Amino acid sequence: MKTTISWNRKVLFLLAVGLLLPVITQAQDFPEGKGRDRILTACTACHGLDNIANPHQKLTAEEWEVYVYDMVARGAAVHKDELEDVKQYLIKNFAVDKK
Ligand code: HEC
Repeated sequence: MKTTISWNRKVLFLLAVGLLLPVITQAQDFPEGKGRDRILTACTACHGLDNIANPHQKLTAEEWEVYVYDMVARGAAVHKDELEDVKQYLIKNFAVDKK
């Protein structure tokens, strides 16, 4: 009987973690580094950070380059002096080798 109770608690705990996780992802997924601050400000004007940390499909380094230019073309406020830092940051932290 005792084990049943603790099993239920585990299930409840896992459920709670599962429900909370999407909320906690946000800024924690963005480790310190050059370009980070600009991303947290310029890239949140139109969508959440979750779009960047968890896009519908993982992006390769080349695709990140294209996306950054695309987003700037759409109006992301990244100065051209910061573009390289922003690109490198995203590639370092979020690019996959191959899909
Ligand atoms: C002017 C508005 C705007 C800003 C600012 C912006 N984006 Fe976007 N972003 C969009 C729109 C609209 C989409 C969805 C349309 C699409 O995927 O073609 C999108 C989609 C994305 C996606 C794909 C998400 C997915 O699930 O596939 C990524 C990655 C992304 N943006 C990264 C960035 C980054 C990095 C920045 C900052 C440099 C940024 N965005 C700033 C408008 C913006």
